[in-house]
Amino acid sequence: MHMKNKILITGGAGFIGNEIIKLIKKKNKLIVVDIKKKKEIINKFKKLKIKYIVGNLNDQKFVIKILKNVKVIYHLAGITKVPNTDINLNKRKEKIIYNNSVNLMNNLINNLPKNTKIVFPSTHLVFENCKINKKVFYENSKPLPKLAYASGKLECEKMLKKSNINYSILRLGSVYGNAEKKRMFNLPNLFVLRTKNNKNLKLFSGGVQIKSIVSVNDVARAMLYLSKDRFKRGLYHIVSEHLTVKKIGNYCKKFNQNIKLIPTKDKIPYLGYYINCSKILRTGFKFKNNYKNFVKNYLT
Ligand SMILES: NC(=O)c1ccc[n+]([C@@H]2O[C@H](COP(=O)([O-])OP(=O)(O)OC[C@H]3O[C@@H](n4cnc5c(N)ncnc54)[C@H](O)[C@@H]3O)[C@@H](O)[C@H]2O)c1
Repeated sequence: MHMKNKILITGGAGFIGNEIIKLIKKKNKLIVVDIKKKKEIINKFKKLKIKYIVGNLNDQKFVIKILKNVKVIYHLAGITKVPNTDINLNKRKEKIIYNNSVNLMNNLINNLPKNTKIVFPSTHLVFENCKINKKVFYENSKPLPKLAYASGKLECEKMLKKSNINYSILRLGSVYGNAEKKRMFNLPNLFVLRTKNNKNLKLFSGGVQIKSIVSVNDVARAMLYLSKDRFKRGLYHIVSEHLTVKKIGNYCKKFNQNIKLIPTKDKIPYLGYYINCSKILRTGFKFKNNYKNFVKNYLT
């Protein structure tokens, strides 16, 4: 009989998966699953000698197959290019985003071998509908989701809590870090990419909005850390900095004086909020990266 010691990463060909893989030393224990089937991706994993399986986690039969002998799952698969405002919202697409997220989690929960742990990235956007400026949110604060992405994540959190599965849930801030161009679309990544390409940066409402951010390296480290046995059925906020959009813009401009920061009168729904992270810090975990250094490394 095989020992149950495999580490499964769903959506492992993506941005965060790539970083987790870098940090895992025992590559022979890894199974990476993703819907991406481009030759260059398949070859990349071949070179790394990592088992890479192409498939769709909406397919229950496929899920049953890949869960064999798995001790820990980093469940990263999901739709990530999603709207962040309700302007021109496409209701059909919103439904797809929500259902997809819930369906994938359902397929995992229903077919999980005993004693397998799920490490799951949720989002700080479960508080996106907060209308009170600069409010501080804790892990036990009441969630206020609005759009399908955050509602889907919150539903997945509830499904895990209702199950008797062991899990660690991480509510991540907006994740920045070096990635292929396609994955540079959230604001802290988009701003450095535009700066690199000599493109100006627009600051809606003067850039006063607060962003909750965290580096992809800290996210990967936190996920590995929270996969350990001593963490049981816990929910953690994972954000290392709160920066205004203007500050993010200023950090970028420092390394490329050719670009302009353009304040606009575009409305923002709220000033933003703070994600309290003392729970993870109390366990002894430390964030090691900051945005300023990332910008410097990316642009010089
Ligand atoms: N990057 C962030 O800012 C951030 C913040 C909070 C939470 N998260 C969550 O972390 C996870 C990973 O994010 P990421 O930034 O690496 O995103 P990503 O888009 O780079 O990676 C997700 C991967 O999942 C794969 N995938 C999607 N649907 C699939 C399916 N049905 N079957 C198999 N594979 C599928 C995609 O091909 C992609 O490679 C996501 O669940 C995301 O919601 C990300």
